[in-house]
Parts: sequence; structure tokens; C-alpha cells
Amino acid sequence: MKYDVRSASAANIEADVVVVALNEAGQFCRSLTALDEASNGYFSQQHEQSNLPESAGETMVFVDVSGIATSRVLVVCAEDSRQSLEKAANAVFSKLSKTHWHSVVMTLQEACADELQGLARVTRAIANANYRFDAYKTQKNKKAKKQAVRHWTFTTERKQVKAFEETLAHIDAWAKGSALTRDLGNLPPNVCTPKYLGHQAEKLAEQYSALKVEVLKKKAIKELKMGALLGVAQGSKEDPRFIIIEHKPKKAVNKKPIVLVGKGVTFDSGGISLKPGAAMDEMKYDMGGAAAVFGTMKALCERALPLHVVALIPTVENMPDGGATRPGDILTSMSGKTIEVLNTDAEGRLILCDALTYAERYEPQAVIDMATLTGACVIALGSHRAGLMGNDDALQSALFDAGEQAEDPVWRLPLDAEYKAQLESPFADLQNIGGREAGTLTAGAFLGAFAEKYPWAHLDIAGVAWRKGKAKGSTGRPVGLLLAYFSALAS
Ligand code: BES
Ligand code: MN
Ligand code: ZN
Repeated sequence: MKYDVRSASAANIEADVVVVALNEAGQFCRSLTALDEASNGYFSQQHEQSNLPESAGETMVFVDVSGIATSRVLVVCAEDSRQSLEKAANAVFSKLSKTHWHSVVMTLQEACADELQGLARVTRAIANANYRFDAYKTQKNKKAKKQAVRHWTFTTERKQVKAFEETLAHIDAWAKGSALTRDLGNLPPNVCTPKYLGHQAEKLAEQYSALKVEVLKKKAIKELKMGALLGVAQGSKEDPRFIIIEHKPKKAVNKKPIVLVGKGVTFDSGGISLKPGAAMDEMKYDMGGAAAVFGTMKALCERALPLHVVALIPTVENMPDGGATRPGDILTSMSGKTIEVLNTDAEGRLILCDALTYAERYEPQAVIDMATLTGACVIALGSHRAGLMGNDDALQSALFDAGEQAEDPVWRLPLDAEYKAQLESPFADLQNIGGREAGTLTAGAFLGAFAEKYPWAHLDIAGVAWRKGKAKGSTGRPVGLLLAYFSALAS
């Protein structure tokens, strides 16, 4: 995404097209008013004649309006909300994609009372519209390529230019991280294996000198006694990995690190408790937590935030071969706690619990894990908000706020002791499922049993990490939330 910020009036900047907005009530944004004045009331006239778009997402192009530097004006109707801005931005793209107009003066952000929020919305929409995953298409979409070379000029008042540039830099870092998250999520599971993720971590560390990476193989994982993780991995031909990515800048503002943990199940067949066949391909996204951790580390580096952050990624494939863990098997986790596996499809918590124990060695300021953990969370919250649980009020409230700010929202869910009681096993210290009731919370409670030594939060991203249907694919969430959280910590 190429962009710049100018404090000149939209009427005076030369470009292939200038995009201006009005809302459904017919109120002109600041730049449309400026164009109107420069053109001697041309747009008010058009408005009187009902020639301007009237409902959000509609567009209209005017050519060769006198008094305006740019010969084409694209008027779009937008309301001040995230959905409306996205709709309007997408309408603008689909219009632009049929043209050769490359330089665009963009003022759509003025449709929002808070123009910085408007700017973030518009630039996120641009990044999302430019995102493509066509690595496995032999015929690439050429039109899409053209779209990506577009140059955007945002206009604002002089005193806002710095703030605009800051927002653009933030969104640019987010866009790069989020694209990595989406790429990893969209890769097929025969390519994106635990070994592949290990290599990607090494590649990331080659790109950014602030990162140090260590990829533990099976032997080292055994030495650590991560029996729960190994119990999941043992039914697959793919060996597990335990990936550690450390971001440790010289002038970190935090004394103790923040640890991120991401579930990296590169394919979740369910294991011996095999999943039904319908849509089983979607379980390639079961490494969405790991992918979000990768993307967040990339965004951290792009933004050069002065924070000490450690990423832990336990990654396995959950398959049902002859050596697979059976329902009834008892595993000994790294913590020493024994776990009766009643359902091999509740595997995410098994790999995460060992990572949570490993996290203790950092004496962290906070640990945040993210995982496509439960179908129950998709039922409870759908694909809009992720589930947030934890053992620390301040941490959860900071994450909630970051989610609102980044428009990557979450919702707090309870973790009372009663939920943990559902995990009592007659044979082991705990069992890995707690029955049909409150599936998201018993999963959270299971993790909580391994996260007692530090402030901890858990994000169940099963509903938000990827999309079904026509726009099928990874969404890049919750990289936006985490980057907003880290930005707040760093400032
Ligand atoms: N990866 C799944 C959760 C999931 C389901 C994510 C649907 C996205 C969409 C997880 O490993 C799983 O299978 N969970 C089980 C837990 C159950 C066996 C207690 C579930 O949610 O059904
Ligand atoms: Mn599962
Ligand atoms: Zn899973």
C-alpha cells in the first residue's frame, strides 16, 4: 500500500480521481464542501437534482467539473460506522478496479466524526481489498495486481498530518502482520505442517534482527517432558515442533516479558475421536492462534515497539494412526499433572497446557494465549467477537479495550471454579473434557489450571480467525487487537 498525507484542499491536488463522501442525510463531508465551493456550487446543484448517491455504499462519478484540479470526482455515500465505511470503501474499490485510475485522493475518512478512526477503517479496508492468496492458482488475476499498485493520498488539516501519518504507520504494520497470519492460515495442511511453521519462524528471524528463534524438535520436546503435547502428536506422521520467538529490543519498557502462546494444530482430524466428514477441510485453520502470533511478532517488528515479547508456538498435527492416543489414555503433562484423555478431539488444550507451563520460566508480566479452541465459542459469539477469559481483571480489561479500539472485538466470559469442577476425573488429576455444557468455559478452565503462576488471558478465536462461505479464508484476527494492546503498553 503506497500512501501519503497532504494538508492541501482536495480541490487543489492533482490525481486521477478524488473520492469524497456524503451521508444518507445528504450532509457533505469537509472535502465535498470544498469541492462544492471550488466549483461554484456544482455539487449542491447536483444534490438538489437528486443526482448524488443516497444510500450507504452507492457511488457516482462526475467528470470535468470546473474549478477542480482533478478531472474525476467519485462521490460515495457513507455513514459513520465500521460496517458502512467498509461497504463504502469496497464500493469505491470495485469502481476503481474497472478503471486505470492509479493515483487517488481519498477523503472518505471524513464520513466519520473521529477522522483518525475513519482513516483506520478506510486503510484497513484497502489492505483487506488488496490481500490475495493465489499461490496455488496457475492463472493469476491481473486486475488484482493493478489494484495493489494504487497510490493513495489522504488529505487533512495541517495540525492532523502527524497523527494521520502515525495511524497509517500503525495500520501498515498491522496489514503486514495480518497478511502473514492470513497466508499461513490459508495454506493447505499438506504444506503447512509443524515443520513448515518451524521454518517460517526461522525465516522471520532472518528478516528482523530484533528476533531470536529457537525451534525444538521431538527429542528436545521429550526432554522437557511435554507429555500432553506429545500425546496429541503421536498419531501423526508429522513430528511436532515447539517454536520460541523472542523479541527483545535494547530499550524495552517492560522489565518482565509478555508471553504470547498460539495453538498450532496444522490439521485437526479429531484423532481417534474422528470428526464428521463435512467441512473437515476447515480444520486446516486450527493453527490460527499460531498464525496470529506470527503476524503479531511481524507487526511488532514493523512498528519497532520497545517491548520484550516472547512467542511460544506448540505445533502438531492431530491424526488417528495406529500409534494415536486413545480415549481413556492418561498423559502426564510437563507440569506433572496427569490428564485423562476422554476425547482426542479436545487436543488444543493438551498442547497449550504444556506451553503454559513452559512460560513459567520467563516469570512473565502476562501470558496471553490464543486458540481456535472450541466449536461452542462459535455457537456462543459467532464470528464477530472472540471469547476472552482469564485470571486477571486488569489484563482482560486492557485486552477488551484494545479490541474495541482496533475494531477486532472480544467479549469477556466467566471462569468460576464451578466450571473447573466439571473437569474432575475419577482416574487422573483432571480430564480433558467437561461435558456438553459450557464447552468454551471448561476449555478455558482447563488452561487456567496450568496458568496459576502469572496473570493470564485466553482468547478463543474459533469463530473469528477464519470465514466460511464465498469469502472463505483466514481473517488475520486477532492481530489488530494485539497490536493495539502492545501500542498502548509501549506508549
Ligand atoms: N479445533 C477444534 C475447535 C473448532 C471447532 C474450531 C469448529 C473451529 C471450528 C477443537 O480442537 C475441537 O475439536 N474442540 C471440540 C472440543 C470437544 C471435543 C470438547 C469441540 O469444540 O467440539
Ligand atoms: Mn479438536
Ligand atoms: Zn482443534
